Amino acid sequence: MMRDSHLTHHAPWIKKMLMSEPTTSSPILEMRGITKRFPGVLANDHADLELYPGEVLALLGENGAGKTTLMNVLVGLYRPDEGEIFVHGQRVEIHSPRDAAALGIGMVHQNFMLVPTMTVAENIVLGMSNLPFVPRMAEIARRIRAISQRYNLEVDPNAYIWQLSVGEQQRVEILKLLYRGAEILILDEPTAVLTPQESHELGRILKRMTDEGKSAVFITHKMEEVMEFSQWVRVMRAGRVVAVKKTAETNPQELARLMVGREVLFRLEKNVCTPGDVVLELRDVHAENDKGLPALRGVSFTIHGGEILGIAGVAGNGQRELVEVITGLRKATRGKVLINGEDRTNKPPLDIIRSGVSHIPADRIGMGAVADMAVADNIAMKGYRQPPLTDHGILHPRRILELAQRMITAFRIATPTPQTHIKFLSGGNIQKVILAREIEACAGLLVAAYPSRGLDVGATEAVRRRLLEQRDAGRAVLLVSEDLEELLTIADRIAVLFEGRVMGILPAATADIETLGLMMAGAQEVGE
Ligand SMILES: Nc1ncnc2c1ncn2[C@@H]1O[C@H](COP(=O)(O)OP(=O)(O)O)[C@@H](O)[C@H]1O
Ligand SMILES: [Mg+2]
Repeated sequence: MMRDSHLTHHAPWIKKMLMSEPTTSSPILEMRGITKRFPGVLANDHADLELYPGEVLALLGENGAGKTTLMNVLVGLYRPDEGEIFVHGQRVEIHSPRDAAALGIGMVHQNFMLVPTMTVAENIVLGMSNLPFVPRMAEIARRIRAISQRYNLEVDPNAYIWQLSVGEQQRVEILKLLYRGAEILILDEPTAVLTPQESHELGRILKRMTDEGKSAVFITHKMEEVMEFSQWVRVMRAGRVVAVKKTAETNPQELARLMVGREVLFRLEKNVCTPGDVVLELRDVHAENDKGLPALRGVSFTIHGGEILGIAGVAGNGQRELVEVITGLRKATRGKVLINGEDRTNKPPLDIIRSGVSHIPADRIGMGAVADMAVADNIAMKGYRQPPLTDHGILHPRRILELAQRMITAFRIATPTPQTHIKFLSGGNIQKVILAREIEACAGLLVAAYPSRGLDVGATEAVRRRLLEQRDAGRAVLLVSEDLEELLTIADRIAVLFEGRVMGILPAATADIETLGLMMAGAQEVGE
């Protein structure tokens, strides 16, 4: 079977003539020459895709490369401007997700589409009312349990969606597709929201499905997952498929280079840390979570200027509350927060911003951007009151544009122009706009919650570089991350949060993953 990219433009009979190995099966799906234009953007440029039964195809590419668009074309959410789709060798027209479902194609979108106030079973049969008859709920639940067991997708059909974790909700989305008989499953960045354990579990579920002859297109930025889950990889860049590789014959470094179009450094050069004065100090801080339960139980630490303190921990151990207490978004019930030696405990967010604090929130789309404003204005939003963007009350549109242009280049933000409204950008690119703004506007303390989450390798590298630049410029950085490699690479010290307490603070230079892992599980406490 020959599936090199230089052959994908040829007609099937030419490919057959050129094939050196005997074919074991024919593709279950082929997309040929798919082109999709949006105003000012060529989202897909003659993109090809082939998928074989029992195969996981990883679709890899930077934010904005056109992966989601290509899959939205496949499930009938977008009409392509050019190109053809074949399922089991038959040319098909897909006008809606319903058409796609009838062909056995289903997609789990980046943002789940479940109704929180309904049960798992209700969500699964929702929208299936066009069937000749709707079975009774008990029968539906029985069928769901059968599928759950077969694929190891553990969920209670009678649970309400709002009661489920993100990982469980994702299982419901997958179950929903399987219930409807999907043979081809498209998972759009399914692990961006999962813990490492949940991602691992998803890998097992995928394996189970492909053992049964189903196929999957798996979109991700994470190289380890590509290497672990897929048999083939297609790399997209600027709307085009730039490489087709057999997973066993490639490696993360090569894939990263193909994605970004240049060499990517996984290991960043780090200067020696030269700590200055204490910028942030927490003294015995307590706080509650949204349900009124204790979330922080006596957190104390300091961060100096010129230093990055990493916060490690399994999500839900107080990270969110910690960030919110520091940035004024949540009240501390006890203890003190000092910024540059001044008591800033429970001050409103605007006061905190004025004391030189920047915040990259975990929920970037919800908290960080104005959808109906231009990219340039979103970038300038924080700095527009100060020089150089304003002097003596006069705004300088040219300087705003220059700043925006610089950030667009530095962070590789895929936008047609700096004036494009941010709502037209892909999710990853909206994130980059907010990151660029917060990092650029930082004056004393940068609180970064999961800054590289959901970003591609090129953007991740840019973000990490910028965090190190801030540190080298003498600022204090609080870096909350679920990626231990990231913490070990760029933090100077790493504090581990477990059940709202600091289990210990280790120098990053001597910390190892195993010790950190034990501390994250609450098994080992280490003094500073
Ligand atoms: N509905 C849309 N309207 C306008 N532009 C869009 C739309 N959807 C995607 N785009 C643009 O198409 C390009 C590809 O986006 P997308 O397919 O979401 O990329 P990826 O999934 O690889 O991150 C981006 O530049 C994005 O801004
Ligand atoms: Mg996408």
